[in-house]
Amino acid sequence: MRATAKAQPNIALVKYWGKRDSERNLPAVGSISITLADLHTTMTVEFDDSLSGDTLVVNDDKNDAMLPRVSRCLDSVAGAGRSFASVTSDSNFPIAAGLASSASAFAALVLAADAAAGTGYSRDRLASLAGQASGSAARSLFGGFVELENAGDDIRLHELCTARDWPLAVVVAITASAPKPVSSTVAMETSRETSPFYDRWIEQQEADLAEARAAIAERSFERLAAVAEHNCLKMHSVMWGSRPPMVFWNSTTLACMEAVRGLQAAGRAVFFTIDAGPQLKAVCQPADAEHVRETLARVGGVEQVVVSGLGDGARVVADD
Ligand code: PMV
Repeated sequence: MRATAKAQPNIALVKYWGKRDSERNLPAVGSISITLADLHTTMTVEFDDSLSGDTLVVNDDKNDAMLPRVSRCLDSVAGAGRSFASVTSDSNFPIAAGLASSASAFAALVLAADAAAGTGYSRDRLASLAGQASGSAARSLFGGFVELENAGDDIRLHELCTARDWPLAVVVAITASAPKPVSSTVAMETSRETSPFYDRWIEQQEADLAEARAAIAERSFERLAAVAEHNCLKMHSVMWGSRPPMVFWNSTTLACMEAVRGLQAAGRAVFFTIDAGPQLKAVCQPADAEHVRETLARVGGVEQVVVSGLGDGARVVADD
């Protein structure tokens, strides 16, 4: 009745922003991401008949704020008639600050719950359940370059190529480690309801997905860089054009963007992407990772720089 699973966050290159079904948390658009190797969440779930309620400890602190979401996710895997569970989560990176901590957390949670409860669901089914808790979490069940497709009334995922097929590096510049001011669920709804750019964003996503798919198939860094930066800035334009406007960047995020532009001008193969938070993620060739890390670490206001390779999907690491 106890199992531990480990998962890494993923970074979207063609992003998910907007829901087509809020009830089932289904995304309005497909997305393509890369799963990281070196940032991870380890999650232990123990179902225990002697408990009088679920408990959640995140990085050694009791966390009641996240508990209802975790309990709902456990119900979706083990059934509403399940025993209560104690859940322990440990991440080696700042949580809730635009580093996709909910992706690694819910990917690890569904896998650990499935192993602990002995439900034996397929990876596709678990990805769909993780996606109900956090849209991007579905992608962390898979490794390397992952595409999430809208498929009829559910999502479908597949690996476009593995981390070994195209071993890029990701350099994350942490510019603020406080939790973000507004949840992505609320922010996406605000965008859908108020942004004049939202419909165009949805309309153009298929073309961006096709371009990224082709770039990955031919391992064209240049093509992937162009479509990923375009897609990221378009998503943020949707947010900036919302009412109230949502600006997740700070001045250091912009300074990091300038630094990446400088590296590109000097001939380095590197591009940036930014999610619903102020951190900048620079994607580059592994041989350039140290130079990119040093460059971003020198930008005033950068608190920390983390380098990661690409890795595999979530896995069970202990099943007692
Ligand atoms: O999974 P959520 O609800 O935290 O939404 C993630 C949205 C972005 O990170 C901004 C984009 C993406 O595709 O991961």
